[in-house]
Amino acid sequence: MWPVDSPPRWVDRSQELATLRAGVEALRQGGSAAVWVEGEPGIGKSSLVVEALAGTSDLGWDIGWGIADQLTERMPLSVMQDCLQVRPSSPDPRRAHAARLLRSQRLGLFADGDASVSSVEVLMALADELCAAAPTVMVIDDLQWADDASLLVWHKLAASIDQLRLLLIATCRSDPHRPQVQQVRASLARRGGAVVALGPLPETDVAALVTAMLGTPPEDTLRQLTAQAAGNPLYLRELVDALARERAQPSPGAGVWPAQEQLPVAADLLRRERDETPSGDKAWDGLTSSLARALLAAGSYDEAARQASVALPVMADPVRQAETYSVLARAQVSAGRSDEAITTMRQAPSPSPRRPGMRLPPPTP
Ligand SMILES: Nc1ncnc2c1ncn2[C@@H]1O[C@H](COP(=O)(O)OP(=O)(O)O)[C@@H](O)[C@H]1O
Ligand SMILES: [Mg+2]
Repeated sequence: MWPVDSPPRWVDRSQELATLRAGVEALRQGGSAAVWVEGEPGIGKSSLVVEALAGTSDLGWDIGWGIADQLTERMPLSVMQDCLQVRPSSPDPRRAHAARLLRSQRLGLFADGDASVSSVEVLMALADELCAAAPTVMVIDDLQWADDASLLVWHKLAASIDQLRLLLIATCRSDPHRPQVQQVRASLARRGGAVVALGPLPETDVAALVTAMLGTPPEDTLRQLTAQAAGNPLYLRELVDALARERAQPSPGAGVWPAQEQLPVAADLLRRERDETPSGDKAWDGLTSSLARALLAAGSYDEAARQASVALPVMADPVRQAETYSVLARAQVSAGRSDEAITTMRQAPSPSPRRPGMRLPPPTP
C-alpha cells in the first residue's frame, strides 16, 4: 500500500516530476541526489514523490519512507528509524543490530529530550552500509515535524550525498518553520541540491481533476465553488466529496457505514458512549470523530460542525484530529459555509492521516 491514496487521475506537475525523476535516474546510473519538495498542506507533495518513485519497487532498491508528525517531533530519531526500518525484530541483521545499539543508549537519549551524537552515528553508519549494498531511497515525509536528531541525520546524509548511492528526499511545508528546518533547507540549496516548490494547480488541471472525480465536466456553479480551493488538490477533493454527498451521489471513497435511516440512531449511541468516556482518553477522540461523521452523513451539518469544532482543541490523537478537521470542513461546505471550510482546511495540521514507517509496495503487474 502506498503511503498516500492515489488520486482518481494524476494531473500534470510535469516539471516538478522531471526534477524528482532526474534523481531516480541518477540513482539508476549509480549516482545520487537530494531533493526537497515543499508546498502548503494538501498541495500534493507526498503524491508527487509516490508518482516519481512509481516503477522503482522492482529494481531491488532499498526503499524507506518515514512520516513525521507532531508526535515524532518529540521522539528523538523515531522518524529516521521508521524510514530505515530499524527494529529489534527486523529480519535484516544490520537493522536489528542498529536497533539494539540505539536501545542501549535510550536512557541517555530520553533524559535530555535529545539524541546523543552516537545515536546519530549509529543511523549514519547504517545508512552508509545500506547504500554500499544497494541503491537506496530515503523519504522523510513532512520533515517540518522531524525531531532535531532526525533532521541532523538528513542534513549529514545530504552533505555527503556524493559518496553515497542514495536518493534522499524530504517533503516539507512551506509555511514558516523551525530555524533548524530552515538551516537544513538552506544548506541543501547552497550545495546545489534540488528544491521543488509546489504551487496551486492551474485552472485546466483543476477542471481535469474535478472531471475525473465526478465522471463529467464541472458545471458553472461547481467551477465557482472549486475556485475557492485555490488550486489545492486536497481541498478540491474534500469539496467535491462534500458536494457529491449533498447531491446523494455515491461518494468517492465512502467506507462501510450505517444505512441512511439508521444514522440518527447511530449518532445518538455514539454521543452517549462518548459522553461516558473521559475526554483526554484516546477513545474519546475516536468516538467524537465518529459522532461528527455520523451527524454529517445524517445531514445535521450544523451540529456536526459544532461537535467537531468544540472537540478539536482538546483532541490529543493527531490522526483523529485530522479526521475531525476534514469532517468539520465538509460540514461547513454542506451547510453552505465554504469560506469557513477553506479556513478550516488551512488550519488542519495533517491533511491525510497515514501509518508511519510504511515500505513502498511491490510493483503491480
Ligand atoms: N497532481 C495531482 N493530480 C491529482 N491529484 C493530486 C495531485 N497531487 C495531489 N493530489 C491529491 O491531492 C491530495 C493531497 O495530496 P498530498 O500528496 O497528500 O498532499 P501533501 O503531501 O502536500 O499534503 C491527495 O488526495 C492526492 O491524491
Ligand atoms: Mg504529505
